[in-house]
Amino acid sequence: MALEQGGHLTHGSPANFSGRWFDFVGYGTDPDTGLIDYAQVRALARRHRPKVIVCGSTSYPRHPDYAAFREIADEADAHLVVDAAHPIGLIAGGAAPNPVPYADIVCATTHKVLRGPRGGLLLCGSRLAERVDRAVFPFSQGGAQMNTVAAKAVAFGEAQAPDFTGYAHRVVANARALAAALEAEGLAVVTGGTDTHLVVVDVAPLALDAGTARRRLAAGAVVLDVCGLPHGAARGLRMGTAALTTQGMGEAEMARVGALLGAALRADRPGGEVRAQVAELTGRFPPYRSHM
Ligand SMILES: Cc1ncc(COP(=O)(O)O)c(C=O)c1O
Repeated sequence: MALEQGGHLTHGSPANFSGRWFDFVGYGTDPDTGLIDYAQVRALARRHRPKVIVCGSTSYPRHPDYAAFREIADEADAHLVVDAAHPIGLIAGGAAPNPVPYADIVCATTHKVLRGPRGGLLLCGSRLAERVDRAVFPFSQGGAQMNTVAAKAVAFGEAQAPDFTGYAHRVVANARALAAALEAEGLAVVTGGTDTHLVVVDVAPLALDAGTARRRLAAGAVVLDVCGLPHGAARGLRMGTAALTTQGMGEAEMARVGALLGAALRADRPGGEVRAQVAELTGRFPPYRSHM
């Protein structure tokens, strides 16, 4: 998926080795729906006959149609690699479709919604196992950090526990609530909502650019990521609900977070008021509980 359409820079950006070693051709979204344009993916695959089709993104708040990607990959005689860095935690918790039956390789990071240590994982069948193993070691990676391996084991154990399913579903419900709250504040929500943990918004309806929006939010003690928006030069804001959900916040708090973001963006309240309310909210839902 092209970077400006929501893809990740490790999928062919010239600034990354992937873009220097491989000839990536980016696909994108339909300008009307904001959803992946599968007709375009198919047409590009027919024209370029890729060895690999990569699916998975950074700022696309919907799930790919893995069956459609599989079909297109089969037609082009290509391998299908699903980069599930973002949804892997939702997939583990049963709150997102599972790419494993469709992909030749599923890769993911372990530190996003999965809530593990900074690191990654690769899943594949026995047909590719040896090649994948060799591509990791000795080709691209040295000895493993055993503290990280242990932390991954703990994260996978947590992801198998029954309450992880509840967490994953709450993450999505919270993202939907946050998207609705931000829409009510006058922001344009990319694709009109979300099926994931991500909400991507355009701040242009508030007559702001993303840089100004980010500065105003920072003044209210809110730090947010700026990302590209498809089909335009402007940038938008990208947020995810995994951390707030882990802190114990629910849909009522998402409505409050949306209202606080709206107030900070409009800068229509006395300085410090948003900051004080953010402190009050995060004080009631602290990221880490004291064990002392
Ligand atoms: C689709 C995708 N793949 C891979 C990564 C790599 O993650 P990191 O740079 O955190 O290791 C990201 C990070 O945002 C991502 O969105």
